[in-house]
Amino acid sequence: MLKKTLVLCLAVLAASLSYAQPAAPDGAQAKPEAAPAAAGATMTPVQRADSAAKGSLKNPYKDDDAAAVAAGSKLYLNYGCNGCHGGTGGGGMCPPLTNDTWIYGGDDDTLFRLVAYGTDTLQGKGYSRKAQENVVGPMPQMGQVVKTDDDLWRILVFVRANYHGAPECKFGCPPNS
Ligand code: HEC
Repeated sequence: MLKKTLVLCLAVLAASLSYAQPAAPDGAQAKPEAAPAAAGATMTPVQRADSAAKGSLKNPYKDDDAAAVAAGSKLYLNYGCNGCHGGTGGGGMCPPLTNDTWIYGGDDDTLFRLVAYGTDTLQGKGYSRKAQENVVGPMPQMGQVVKTDDDLWRILVFVRANYHGAPECKFGCPPNS
């Protein structure tokens, strides 16, 4: 059963990567205004993650911000997160985003980096799995697909709004729980 789910998840991965390829534009680099990154300026998710010290990324949106959550919901679907994680992040063929099991950590900084970099690059930066969901597989590098850091923050606040795990574990369980 577990094996079957993993295979399905990887099949979706292959499909999503083939659609993601043409959408990963060289244009992101070519845009002149993207280069000198002023503090508040919009960047691609990868630029944002590269430019911020580990642990310092924080979602500017709160999950009671209905407009941001609604926008995040649309973006989540537009960028195809639902193909793997289900329409509201409940899991589908890949790990759920809304329970209290956080694979690398549940804080904003870690989730942003995981989605921006994908599993391979994140692990290359020294992160390792601390917890395991029922499905284990690599998360693709969606930071080449999601256009801006702002889009990614709104997606992640939508994910937060759908959280249904233990309240104390919403941003990662406290150390001794
Ligand atoms: C091809 C399938 C696939 C797509 C598309 C995908 N993911 Fe993932 N995602 C995964 C897998 C597999 C993991 C587990 C990664 C690991 O264990 O290294 C994961 C993990 C995550 C996690 C951490 C979950 C946890 O419990 O710690 C978040 C958050 C996440 N994805 C968000 C997103 C968002 C947002 C998008 C869309 C921008 C997205 N994913 C698109 C497959 C996918």
